[in-house]
Amino acid sequence: MERFLLQHKELKIDNWLDEFESILKPEIEFFKDPKGNAYTFNEVLKKLPDIKPSSLNLDNYKIIIGNESDAEQQVLEQLRKDLHGLDPWRKGPFELFGIEIDTEWQSWLKWDRFKGYLGNVEGKRILDIGSSNGYYMFRLAANDPSMVVGVEPQHSFFYQYLALQKYLNLENVFCLPIRFDQFPLTNNYFDMVFCMGVLYHRKSPVEMLQDIHKTMKNGGDIFVENLVLETKQGLCLFPESRYAKMRNVFFIPDLKCMEFWLERAGFSNIECLDVSKTTIKEQRKTEWIGTESLINFFDPKDHSKTIEGYPAPVRAIFKATA
Ligand SMILES: C[S@@+](CC[C@H](N)C(=O)[O-])C[C@H]1O[C@@H](n2cnc3c(N)ncnc32)[C@H](O)[C@@H]1O
Repeated sequence: MERFLLQHKELKIDNWLDEFESILKPEIEFFKDPKGNAYTFNEVLKKLPDIKPSSLNLDNYKIIIGNESDAEQQVLEQLRKDLHGLDPWRKGPFELFGIEIDTEWQSWLKWDRFKGYLGNVEGKRILDIGSSNGYYMFRLAANDPSMVVGVEPQHSFFYQYLALQKYLNLENVFCLPIRFDQFPLTNNYFDMVFCMGVLYHRKSPVEMLQDIHKTMKNGGDIFVENLVLETKQGLCLFPESRYAKMRNVFFIPDLKCMEFWLERAGFSNIECLDVSKTTIKEQRKTEWIGTESLINFFDPKDHSKTIEGYPAPVRAIFKATA
């Protein structure tokens, strides 16, 4: 956060510097002396050993940081235990000095679905809304953007990002521990925005898309990934309470409805890049999460339905122009 504010001139955020400062100041204060879970995660972060990775590979399905000969075995055994202190690791995978973080999600499958549509990323300003531990930001960083900034309000994921950045040290990657609705509407600023796995958590998805539009340059690209219904009738599912055991799911649009939302928010050239059922190959329980996973969210007798009887998770990726 401090680095983001300090680099305001290079980042060309001067127009919104006051706003960023007033939003981030309380966060900076909080993280100096964090409370609750953040305190526990911060203790883990402080303990992480200083190891200089001999190599980095960001352009790979698994982000690889150094190798096992970069530190003594004993140090790496302790590091493995410390990294478990930041469980659950949802997005990835990662390999740190030979330690495999086999995350719940095989996030490269999603990356592979949209990478062919990214175009030239070099020199671009990119926003990743709901950036989690930064997996997609790090993969984007392999293509030399001028900056990638993530917004991620959940402390466990923010600390995972800090742990990874301790070793990656990517100067053009930032993460702000705030919600997108706190983010200044940086008119005509971003060339590219990713909003993946977030809209179905919002009570007003169209307002969110409108606000995203306000942060972007004319002609910039948005990549939106969302839970969808596979029909094209312009309809939407609104679960009674839970969807796949999640309490915070509101609108699940069908493919036409998703287009209507984007159109109404001001986007054009709307393309559906991919529609995929979420499978237990992509989302599954590993030793790096202490919770249930997709297999527990299906109707046990019929995997085409969630445990609540709704259509099982299908996700679509849309690209559109601001
Ligand atoms: C389902 S995960 C998706 C993570 C990643 N974008 C991906 O596609 O794999 C949703 C993420 O969005 C974050 N999130 C939820 N509400 C948000 C908001 N209002 N602003 C920014 N991030 C939010 C959550 O903390 C979580 O990390």
